[in-house]
Amino acid sequence: MHRRIFVPGALAAASLMLAIPASAASYTPGAPGIGDPYYPYYGNGGYDVSHYDLRLRYQPETDELQGTATVLARTTQDLSSFDLDFLLDVSEVRVNGAKAAFTHTGEHEFVVTPKRPLAKGTPITVVVRYSGVPSTKSAYGFTTWHRTPDGAVAADEPEAAWWWFPSNDHPSDKATYDVSVAVPDGTQAISNGTLQSTSSQRGWTRYSWRQNKPQATYLATLALGRFDITTSTSDGGIPVINAYSTDLGDNDDAARASVERTGEIVDWLSDWFGPYPFSTAGGYVPNTTTGYALETASRVYYSPKQFAKGSNVSVVVHELAHQWYGDDVSVKDWKDIWLNEGFATYAQWLWSEHEGEGTTRELADYVYASHPADDPFWTVAPGDPGADHQFDDAVYDRGAAAIQALRDEVGDTAFFAILKGWPKEHAYGNASVADFERYAEEVSGKPLAGLFDTWLFQPSKPAASAARSLAKGGDGAGTSVTRPKSWQSIEAAHGGHGH
Ligand code: TRP
Ligand code: ZN
Repeated sequence: MHRRIFVPGALAAASLMLAIPASAASYTPGAPGIGDPYYPYYGNGGYDVSHYDLRLRYQPETDELQGTATVLARTTQDLSSFDLDFLLDVSEVRVNGAKAAFTHTGEHEFVVTPKRPLAKGTPITVVVRYSGVPSTKSAYGFTTWHRTPDGAVAADEPEAAWWWFPSNDHPSDKATYDVSVAVPDGTQAISNGTLQSTSSQRGWTRYSWRQNKPQATYLATLALGRFDITTSTSDGGIPVINAYSTDLGDNDDAARASVERTGEIVDWLSDWFGPYPFSTAGGYVPNTTTGYALETASRVYYSPKQFAKGSNVSVVVHELAHQWYGDDVSVKDWKDIWLNEGFATYAQWLWSEHEGEGTTRELADYVYASHPADDPFWTVAPGDPGADHQFDDAVYDRGAAAIQALRDEVGDTAFFAILKGWPKEHAYGNASVADFERYAEEVSGKPLAGLFDTWLFQPSKPAASAARSLAKGGDGAGTSVTRPKSWQSIEAAHGGHGH
């Protein structure tokens, strides 16, 4: 397809024009960012990825990662060059089989210039051979590659891929994945989806994982270390694969007592959100010192710290709810984060009610009453919180209260139809807060602009009249509302995140 055929004589000029159109001026570099208002350099312009094939080798003793990434994509403009987001050392790049020029620029950009420019709409195969010690690489002064005593973990938000594979790192470019990693015998490699095979040769074991549903780059995960892997099947027929570091010490039992409930919770969430979107479910608990959990698609990342006070099923509910709200339907831009965190938190509220530890109503009232009007909590607008406040409590708690306010306004029948219909409406796609507003109005048949403006965008505390139950009890300031039993574990699920 990209072979150049020499044609002598008068035909030569014409055939050259086919290979490289005369209007070479229309061939321009792809943008270094995909256009996210919070993170102008995240993702890239000019192409759309459909699949990542990562064939890697990792040595836990030295943290050396080497591999070949084969990226299948299609150009979306006439391209003279394009960027990937990547930090490791590259030895060779090929585009459609031919060696390409390449260079690292900026904090995390990697520019590839193919021998021949690429016309819009062309399928391209990009092969990147690389190596490096990810823990020694930083961008913007941070690293999201977390070393453990026996290996490492790639799991972070909104960026984690730069440390282990070259990508178009933005949730709006989803792709399927084959991740195959060789590790020394006795070490395991955990990633998303289904374990297709393991094979051992000369002291190295290769784990080959497949994510056959499109996932965002930040939801791709890799854990290397010594793990105990458990498998089961939920009543609803979802295969569950969990993995526990063999070094969890005192937290081991509480971690298992929480994460082994994955199948039960996936089935329970399916009643609210519709069919589970991935071919397997599960989570892993590596021996990290980080404090957060992350909704890595079909294989949730949990920090052992979350189980330090005993079992924590609420965090499991939160991360599994993200499989629908965040992973199946992903944000269009990072400003749409409420679509992830508001709903994952609301799922914890539903679970709290299910467990008899506080109803969604009581939790919403508690959020309202426990933050007086002058609390800076209310200055953060969950519908567009700003990059510096993307994961503030307001996005989670005010965000979930906004969902309760929507339920109050439209009634339970319409509300639960929206909750279940939304993942179906945008299955494996991307959507914005504005898309959700339109969808909720369509399903409920009610104008909702005022409600969303009050709860998602107004940088101040909604009036008492907007918080239904408190219409009886004043504006909430000074009213004592008892803290629901579930409160602490709900909050613990989103404590301590960030770099
Ligand atoms: N999305 C994660 C959750 O709610 C929390 C989170 C925010 C996070 N920023 C992060 C996790 C950075 C890891 C790294 O479960
Ligand atoms: Zn979350």
